[in-house]
Amino acid sequence: MKISDNYSLLAHNTFKMQVSCRRFIELERPEEIVSLAAQHIFEQPFYILGGGSNVLFTRDYEGVILHPVFKGIELIKEDEQTITLRVAAGTEWESLIEYCVENQYYGLENLTGIPGLVGSAPVQNIGAYGMEVKDSILTVEGYLLPSVEPICYSAEDCRFGYRSSLFKTELKGRCFITYVYFKLSKEPHFNLTYKALSEELARQQVKPTLENIVRCVRSVRDSKLPDITQIGCAGSFFQNPIVSEEQFEQLHQQCSDLISYPAANGVKLAAGQLIDKAGWKGHREGDAGIYPKQALVVVNYGQAHPEEICQLYEKVISDVYNKFKVLLRPEVNII
Ligand code: EPU
Repeated sequence: MKISDNYSLLAHNTFKMQVSCRRFIELERPEEIVSLAAQHIFEQPFYILGGGSNVLFTRDYEGVILHPVFKGIELIKEDEQTITLRVAAGTEWESLIEYCVENQYYGLENLTGIPGLVGSAPVQNIGAYGMEVKDSILTVEGYLLPSVEPICYSAEDCRFGYRSSLFKTELKGRCFITYVYFKLSKEPHFNLTYKALSEELARQQVKPTLENIVRCVRSVRDSKLPDITQIGCAGSFFQNPIVSEEQFEQLHQQCSDLISYPAANGVKLAAGQLIDKAGWKGHREGDAGIYPKQALVVVNYGQAHPEEICQLYEKVISDVYNKFKVLLRPEVNII
């Protein structure tokens, strides 16, 4: 493992906040977590950081950051229709997508372009373009901290929901994920329920194949989301809110074009549309802004301080609440 003290996190958060941490530990093997426990490392504040693409650091972190760098994709089981992959937490999510395209494994293709590491994917049940990672996850392995008790959870144990799981609720910040097992199909089957994706396939006049879907998802993403190599951000900053049927009816009278999706416990709204309707899309205060092509994304155009980002997102939350009585919640982890 590699240990660095007073370490800059600039290269480890896609929001590009200029913050540092007291100690940064890169784990090269999963078992190293056990030796860290023996050194009483977990008796101080600690934070598990993957690719840093879903986090806003609001200040220097006065604790230990644990960052998995062990990588690898292993085919561990195969039958006529399916395969099971065991993927190490430190593997780049996009390299898993590339591996699947190369080998013609189906089930994750709509999730191309999502920044981050494989170990983070189950935490917030990453989802995009009609697909959620929970539908391909078989099990998740790791260690509970601070006890370093090994765990192996089935998809059901993980209690996946919209942008949520056991790792984001009861076990928040306490589970060091080491491996994710995916069950994927060897037979073509596609999810083209998301309109912009099927329209892009039609526009490019191509048939649904893994390669074409990946290409079309990337072009839809590029048309709406910032390139994180150019602009600091953490993807969707807010979750799409879920309101009661009753509140939805009232809101619908206020705005007849309100976008909604059925949800288990009510009606899910598009936070981006509410922020857009409230007039914040493209708004900029210094280097903090609301992305002009997708109002759900808060951006750092260069040198924004954490406080500027916080002031801006708090203003958005309060204005959307005043206008629609809908309380938006950040999707990113605010540390
Ligand atoms: N909309 C607006 N104005 C905006 C943004 C959106 O009117 O500024 C409307 C759109 O026209 C659309 C609806 O809101 O009808 C939903 O927008 P979109 O399809 O772009 O998706 P989203 O609900 O805003 C979610 C995910 C994204 C994911 C997309 C595509 C969340 C919090 N976000 O966004 O995830 O890429 O769906 O599936 O669920 C991420 O998590 O970082 C992320 C980018």
